[in-house]
Amino acid sequence: MTREDAPVFVREIIKTSGDMWMKGWAEANGGNISLRLRPEKTGDLSGFAPKTDWIPLEKALPGVAGEKFLVSGTGKFLRNIPLFPEKNVGVIELDAAGAAYRQLWGFEPDGRPTSELEAHLRSHEVIKAASGNVKHAVIHTHAPHLIALTYALALDTPRLTKLLWQSHAECVVGFPEGVEFIPWMMAGSPEIAAATADALLRRNLAVWQFHGVFATGRNLDAAFGLIDMADKAAQIYLMARAAGRVACTLTTDQVARIAANFKVTADPAGLAADTADYFA
Ligand code: 13P
Ligand code: ZN
Repeated sequence: MTREDAPVFVREIIKTSGDMWMKGWAEANGGNISLRLRPEKTGDLSGFAPKTDWIPLEKALPGVAGEKFLVSGTGKFLRNIPLFPEKNVGVIELDAAGAAYRQLWGFEPDGRPTSELEAHLRSHEVIKAASGNVKHAVIHTHAPHLIALTYALALDTPRLTKLLWQSHAECVVGFPEGVEFIPWMMAGSPEIAAATADALLRRNLAVWQFHGVFATGRNLDAAFGLIDMADKAAQIYLMARAAGRVACTLTTDQVARIAANFKVTADPAGLAADTADYFA
């Protein structure tokens, strides 16, 4: 299969995965992507014969029972998705209870979904309900400036949120609800899957300490854009620090005025956070 004759539902992931590689976010097999498929766009895909038996999930997810997802494969390089989509991504469907999944398409010849599947699917369950079925995309990636921040600074959710808002004047508009900070946990574990889904219930971005970031949105472009914005803010802050010291920054009042101007509600805990030590 070539990029041109890939099924329509694969085109969005081809664009996003290629962009993630170009941004320098996706070294080796770093990062993974999932998209909850819309039957109105893809058809019901009933022509695909199941390629595997049902594989039980760690936790049943009735909120996404019966749904189909396009998911990147474990160990696959995102930069290869545009070249060989059928090897590097696949379609899975959940059973009627949301307790198990099976593979319907892709992952050629004998691949499997990402090792972060639980984090993706648990996130999809909460974002589907919380967004009234609007949000369909989840991206995990190793955005380097956000990761570097977790080494350079002692962070928590309100302080990370405010630092990013202060480091790029558009950020409070892009993510007024803030950015969740998730202290280090084992990748691929049920614990980090639960913490990530819990974070994405409240916010569209969650930074994993020493590892990367998760984002959600109505489609892959929206989730990609949020990571791009947050990582750029982190980059600006780190560049200013590398230039000597951060002599000045957006004040709390200025951030609040930007939020008011663009008619978004900035997370009060973020606005109240004390970030003075980051600018000392
Ligand atoms: P996978 O290759 O299993 O998707 O894992 C990549 C990754 O980034 C794990 O956190
Ligand atoms: Zn990762």
